[in-house]
Amino acid sequence: MKPRLNAPGLLIRLVSSLAAAATLAIQAQVPIPAAELAKLPPPLTRPVDFKTEVYPLFKAACFKCHGPEKQKGKYRMDTKEGAFKVTDDHGPAIAAGKSAQSAIIHMAAGLIDEMLMPPPGGKPGESDPLTREQISLLRGWIDQGAAWPDGPITEIVAPVRFDPEIKALLAGSCAKCHSGAGAEGGFSVDSMDRVLTGGKTYGKVVTPGNPKKSSLLTILAGKDEDIPKPEAHRIADKPLRQVEEWIRQGAR
Ligand code: HEC
Ligand code: HEC
Repeated sequence: MKPRLNAPGLLIRLVSSLAAAATLAIQAQVPIPAAELAKLPPPLTRPVDFKTEVYPLFKAACFKCHGPEKQKGKYRMDTKEGAFKVTDDHGPAIAAGKSAQSAIIHMAAGLIDEMLMPPPGGKPGESDPLTREQISLLRGWIDQGAAWPDGPITEIVAPVRFDPEIKALLAGSCAKCHSGAGAEGGFSVDSMDRVLTGGKTYGKVVTPGNPKKSSLLTILAGKDEDIPKPEAHRIADKPLRQVEEWIRQGAR
């Protein structure tokens, strides 16, 4: 027999369901336990660049659902105002200086039930969880102040690394004279360390972060008057710009 609800019973039900809802709301805002936070990949300590490292990662992993077209969970990450919003239930999405208190880190690391970002179950390649390295990168950026220039992001430069881009380029253009024990002028392109060390006469030809002070670019532009075989040293414009970008980004 179904129990019949009298008025006081209804009231009790109402009150208890309100209480349950309130508990839920409070539960949702409970801070992540310290033991869970301790499992987060550590923040990078080297300087992290927003335009070349962070924004491209957001773009690849998040904009499909939080970009100009869709704003799942009413969250939009391609604009500064949008990205820094306080989320509905989990505190600030990005708390500048405090990566361990930033919801995007908690979500990317899967510390919040049912809120792993990107969510699993999409097409292969489209919902891959962020790697530990990527989470470390984001943490480093947030802990360093979460710099985000005002206005629209115009110039997005892809990151250029020694391995694979520069390594392949130098192997193709330079290794026949600058490799192994007999490398001309003691300058070898066999490893990034050797390239950064430079040669016997010129010494260092790369100043990380400073293209203007990197004589390698003058040599590769065919504008170094003193280098023997200048014609063997000139490379095309496009790879030259790539080497320049690699140096500007810190020659890593
Ligand atoms: C395939 C779609 C998809 C992708 C990709 C995705 N998200 Fe989400 N995101 C969602 C959905 C759906 C919600 C709403 C979930 C809910 O509220 O239950 C959400 C909610 C969020 C929220 C909470 C917003 C709020 O105000 O409550 C944050 C923060 C967030 N996502 C961050 C990210 C980050 C960071 C990335 C990239 C690393 C990402 N998401 C990638 C679908 C996506
Ligand atoms: C055909 C051979 C040849 C090729 C190819 C070549 N170089 Fe050289 N390079 C030389 C010679 C010869 C010297 C002078 C060595 C000396 O002074 O003993 C030299 C000198 C240098 C030096 C100065 C080393 C020092 O003495 O401090 C640098 C730097 C250098 N090359 C970079 C490059 C780079 C980068 C490339 C590829 C874009 C390249 N070279 C391609 C032959 C070559």
